[in-house]
Amino acid sequence: MEKKGRILTGHRPTGRRHLGHLVGTLENWARLQDDYQCLFLIADLHVLTTDYTHPEHIQGNIVEVLTDWLAAGLDPERSTFVLQSAVREHAELALLFSMLVTVSRLGRNPTYKEQVKELGLQSSLGLLAYPVLQAADILVYKADTVPVGEDQIPHIEITREVARRFNSTYGETFPEPQGLLSQAPRLPGIDNRTMHTSYGNAIYLSDDSQTVEEKVMSMYTDPTRIHTTDPGHVEGNPVFTYHDIFNQDREEVEELKARYRAGRVGDVEVKRRLVRALDHYLTPLREKRREFAARPDYVWGALREGTSRARPIAQATMTEVREKMGLT
Ligand code: TRP
Repeated sequence: MEKKGRILTGHRPTGRRHLGHLVGTLENWARLQDDYQCLFLIADLHVLTTDYTHPEHIQGNIVEVLTDWLAAGLDPERSTFVLQSAVREHAELALLFSMLVTVSRLGRNPTYKEQVKELGLQSSLGLLAYPVLQAADILVYKADTVPVGEDQIPHIEITREVARRFNSTYGETFPEPQGLLSQAPRLPGIDNRTMHTSYGNAIYLSDDSQTVEEKVMSMYTDPTRIHTTDPGHVEGNPVFTYHDIFNQDREEVEELKARYRAGRVGDVEVKRRLVRALDHYLTPLREKRREFAARPDYVWGALREGTSRARPIAQATMTEVREKMGLT
């Protein structure tokens, strides 16, 4: 089949993937493999922009991410897994791109501003240049499509600007890549804030049944409801958001909503049924995950092999770029 184009996207290896990654990102990526040539990047250099003091975590986190990717259906036979730091051309292209971007443009990047202001991270040169490295990740493979979450759109915009600037200065070289937003809404965590590893509110793909049950039973529900007989709110109630996404028994969901609104069902029962639905949804994935986790050689092999396939593409781009920039 003729594929539509080339995708590059990826994750920073920061540890296990959670349900927010699954429904927001991974299921979408898995589907896109049918229509696009996909490169999936493990962005280990990007981890260092915020956390260079813990090099000992990186290896383990890479395996966790890869294992979750495989369990979620990313397929190294059809797609290419790439380790960023193992293809030196990413760093080299980022350096050359850094000539084409102003410091003030990068200072206006909302992600950077937030990390420095709200999280108090040091405004290192590496953190400021984060989007330049991301532009290199994408353009070194001349990818035209980048499926990402909304938070990444400013980085894609900078990538497009770099591509335009390069093309207008040195001649047509790079596509102007498009961000591709997934349809999935943001998944709330068990405390109703956005699901995020650092909030401690996440349900992980690697959580076993019992852990999922404990998390669901402690989930935030309608705070205005004191007695089971009070009419409850379904909208904005994360327990029902989860039912909508994960419970395949639509009839049960509608019935539970009606009873909840009428004050004829308690939170405990609604949660129990969610536990069952989640178990049903996650069991095949957990089984696959267990199989991959037992085969670290296969997991690393998929990354090593993909990286070897990606490298010549990156090298060809760099040959072209060096020549155009006068570095022959
Ligand atoms: N910045 C992305 C994130 O935090 C990860 C990433 C690095 C990426 N390089 C990329 C995503 C290139 C898409 C394309 O999620």
